[in-house]
Amino acid sequence: MLDRIEAAYKEVESAIADSLAQVEDFRLKYLSKKGVLSSLMEEFRNVPAEQKRELGQKLNQLKIYVTERYNSLKDNVGNASNPELKSIDLTRSATPIATGSRHPISIVRNDIIRIFSDMGFSVAEGPEIEDDWHVFSSLNFAADHPARDMQDTFFIARNPVDVLLRTHTSSVQTRTMEKTEPPIRIVCPGRVYRNEAISARAHCFFHQIEGLYIDKNVSFADLKQVLLNFARQMFGPETKIRLRPSYFPFTEPSAEMDISCDICGGKGCAFCKETGWVEILGCGMVDPNVLKSCGIDPEIYSGYAFGLGIERITNLKYKVKDLRMFSENDVRFLAEFESAR
Ligand code: PHE
Repeated sequence: MLDRIEAAYKEVESAIADSLAQVEDFRLKYLSKKGVLSSLMEEFRNVPAEQKRELGQKLNQLKIYVTERYNSLKDNVGNASNPELKSIDLTRSATPIATGSRHPISIVRNDIIRIFSDMGFSVAEGPEIEDDWHVFSSLNFAADHPARDMQDTFFIARNPVDVLLRTHTSSVQTRTMEKTEPPIRIVCPGRVYRNEAISARAHCFFHQIEGLYIDKNVSFADLKQVLLNFARQMFGPETKIRLRPSYFPFTEPSAEMDISCDICGGKGCAFCKETGWVEILGCGMVDPNVLKSCGIDPEIYSGYAFGLGIERITNLKYKVKDLRMFSENDVRFLAEFESAR
């Protein structure tokens, strides 16, 4: 009996029908009172009890299969004889489905991470909702420093400690130094928040990457070389850098780095305000007070840190003029970056 069931499967599988008459033949052959299924059912009655379970199951499956097959043969013939459906070209390729593309900020963030990881930096991350200690106090901000002011910082709660949206990714520096023994060599990408009026040039949130290197005998020359290497890989081998003295509470000495304007090649244009230079990051040697706050002995270790805005680098690389484009999710804008990779 098993053989007959198997044979019926094969036959049904290869059955074809080009006309309604042939579909009817199929029905008569397999599904009618005198058909194959009925005769198998009859035979089943005489099967010994111990085989009933297995064969009964098989027979049921065959019945389901034959019925499905019958329905699909019927549908096919029906469609083929329907003039409306006949005109459908089944060989035509399907309508293309729009695929997503990587967000420009992600593209640039990944590029930056790749450049630094090639130089031995690993990625560290931290929370966007932070406390005062990790964003300000541990980083040597005086109690009355204006950056703590409501104008810049979104506070979430003020008691018992200030809880706020981080204004920079330097908070991840602190978190990493607190729990890791030097040497430390990390980049920390992430979103940051500042209470700014939204315009083409400013937004209340943006993205930064912070870099930190702590070890014995780290010098400003190391910092400069790493940044030069980064600038050349990011903007091309001809790129020049310059460091201008600056001030950050957590670095001493501090500097801001400019690169030769990628848009006019340093000749002077509207983007670089005719100076030939554009500022891309802040940096400096980690202030000994910060090392001490995080439990690292400044007599033994020194280090540098730098922080850059990913939007700014993206603006430069892709010449995006309005910062708001990055968060509006206009697919026409986003799709332009599909081919950028
Ligand atoms: N945290 C600084 C900022 O947000 C950037 C910075 C990082 C400067 C590290 C120096 C060293 O502006």
